[in-house]
Amino acid sequence: MINKNNKTSLTELSSYKKLQAHYHNVRPLHMRRLFSVDSQRAKKFTVEHEGLRLDYSKNRMSHNTLPLLCNLAREVNLESWRERLFSGDKINNTEGRAVLHTALRNCSNTPILVDGNDVMPQINASIDKMEQFSHKVRTGDWAGYSNKKITDIINIGVGGSDLGPKMVYEALKPYRQKGLTVHFISNVDGAHIDETLEKLNPETTLLIISSKTFTTQETLTNAHIARDWFLQSAQNEAHIAKHFVAVSTNKTEVRRFGIDLDNMFEIWDWVGGRYSLWSAIGLSVVLSVGMKNFKKMLSGAHSMDQHFKDAPLEQNMPVILGLLGVWYNNFFNAESHGIFPYDHYLRSLPLYLEQADMESNGKSVDRHGRKVNYATGPIIWGTSGINGQHAFYQSIHQGTKMIPADFIVSMLTHSVHQEQHDIMFSNALAQTEALMRGRTLDETYADVMMSNPPVQNIEERIHHMVFEGNHPTNTLLIDKLTPRSLGMLIALYEHKIFVQGIIWNLNSYDQWGVELGKQLTHRILQDIEQPHTVTSHDGSTNAMINYYHNILKKEAKKEEEVTA
Ligand code: F6P
Repeated sequence: MINKNNKTSLTELSSYKKLQAHYHNVRPLHMRRLFSVDSQRAKKFTVEHEGLRLDYSKNRMSHNTLPLLCNLAREVNLESWRERLFSGDKINNTEGRAVLHTALRNCSNTPILVDGNDVMPQINASIDKMEQFSHKVRTGDWAGYSNKKITDIINIGVGGSDLGPKMVYEALKPYRQKGLTVHFISNVDGAHIDETLEKLNPETTLLIISSKTFTTQETLTNAHIARDWFLQSAQNEAHIAKHFVAVSTNKTEVRRFGIDLDNMFEIWDWVGGRYSLWSAIGLSVVLSVGMKNFKKMLSGAHSMDQHFKDAPLEQNMPVILGLLGVWYNNFFNAESHGIFPYDHYLRSLPLYLEQADMESNGKSVDRHGRKVNYATGPIIWGTSGINGQHAFYQSIHQGTKMIPADFIVSMLTHSVHQEQHDIMFSNALAQTEALMRGRTLDETYADVMMSNPPVQNIEERIHHMVFEGNHPTNTLLIDKLTPRSLGMLIALYEHKIFVQGIIWNLNSYDQWGVELGKQLTHRILQDIEQPHTVTSHDGSTNAMINYYHNILKKEAKKEEEVTA
C-alpha cells in the first residue's frame, strides 16, 4: 500500500504495525544464537561497494527484519522521494528550495534543472574557478602584498562552513601540499582567533571567509578582527584583494565587507550548509590537496550516489544504515547512535555528522507542520574508537542504555607503523565481538579461575564482570582512506540521513531551530551594552545579565586603580 503524500502518520502504517509485532519476536533473541544457527549470517548481512564493505550482521535482527523495514520504506514512497532529491524537486518545502548537494558531484554532467535552468554550467564554472585559483596559490603565482608565497590559509566559518572542510582537511592529510597549512576559526570566543593569528604572518596568509548567508554573527565578527589584524601589517586596503576571498550566496554582504566580487566563490541556496563541503565551501581543501584529489573525492561521492540510486533497497548501504537506525530509534527506543572511527584521520567525522544528522532530523514537526507522535533524529555522538574505549565504552558494554554504533575501520594505513595498525584493527573487531557476544557468568568464572595472579574475593566481583552482550553495531571497512573512499563514506551518511528523514516524514533540509537563539542573542547583547539593571527577561536571565554587569564594573574599577 502506498501512503499518498505521506499524509498517514508513520505509526498508523500497516508496515509499521508489522514491525511492531516483529520487534516483540526479535527483542528476546541474542545475537550469539542468531550466529550459531546460521553459519552464513555474516555473509548474508554484508554489502560491498567499491572497497567500502558494510558488515551489519552484528545487529538485533533476523532474516525477516530488513525485508519488513524495506516494506516500510516502500510504504513511505522512499524510492520516489529519492528520485525527487536527485532531480532537483523543491523537497525543502518550508524554504521552497531544491536539495542538490548531489549535483555538486554530478560527474556525469547530465543536466539538473532548478526553475527550468540547468545548474551544471555554474557548478562546473565554480570548479574551474577554484582550480585556477588554487593552482596559482599552490605554485606561488598568487603571492601576497609583499610578493611572498602564501604559506597559511585561514578558513573563517562555522557549522557547515567549518565542520565539513575541517573534517576533510584532517582526513586527507597524506594528500596535502607541503608548506601550505590550513587553519580553521569558528568560535566567536576571541581566544580562538587570537591563538591562530598570533602564530601567523599576514604577508603570507590567505583568508577565506566562508558563509552561505554572510550574515552569521560569529563568522563576520571573526572576519573583521582578521581584517584589522591584516591591515595593521599591510597598512593599505588595496592589499585586501590579495589576501581575502569569500565563499557565499550573498554578493551584497560580501561587497559590503570589502571583498572584491572577483574574489568571491559563489554557492547556491539549493545546497544546505551542512551538505556544502562539495562546493566552494571546500576551497580550503582544494588549496591543500589540489583539485585533482578534490575531484577524486567528488567522484567517490558520485559513485555512492549511483549506488544509492540503483541498488535494490535490501542491498542498498544508505538504506540499510538508515532503516537499522529507525529500527533501534523507533522500536528499541534507543536515544543515541555512536560513531567510532578507527582511523586517526577520521577523528572529526563524529563532530561533522553531529551537525549533518541532528540539524537535519532533530525535528518534532513533520513536513506538513504536524507534531509527530514518534521519535525522530537520535543524538549522534562519538570520537576515535581507541580513545572511546578508554573513556565511555564501559557504558556501552554494561550500562542500562542501548547505544547502537558504527565502527568505521580502515584496512590499510598511511602510517609506517603497520604493527600499530594491527593493534588498532584488532581492537575494533574485539569491541564489536565483545559487544555482540558478551561474557556469561560461567565464562566469567572460567576466565577468573584461569587468571594469574588469581582474582581475590571472586564472589563480590563476579557479577560486576559479566557482560550481557547483544549490543548492536555496524562495521564499515574502508580499503584505505583516500579522497575517493572519503567521498563515498560522506555521501553514504548523507543518504542515510535522507532515508531516515523520509521515514520520519520530516523536511531534513531546513533548520528553524537555530533562529530563536540568534534572535535572543541580539537582545541580550543590547542589554549587556546598557548600563541599567535589566528586567525584561525571566528572573534567571535578568540575574545573570546583571551579575555580568557587576563583574565587568568591578573589573573596570580594578583596572582603573591599577592604572591610576
Ligand atoms: O545557524 C545554523 C547554521 O545556519 C548552519 O545551518 C550553517 O551551516 C551555519 O549556521 C553557518 O551558516 P553560514 O554558512 O550562512 O554562515
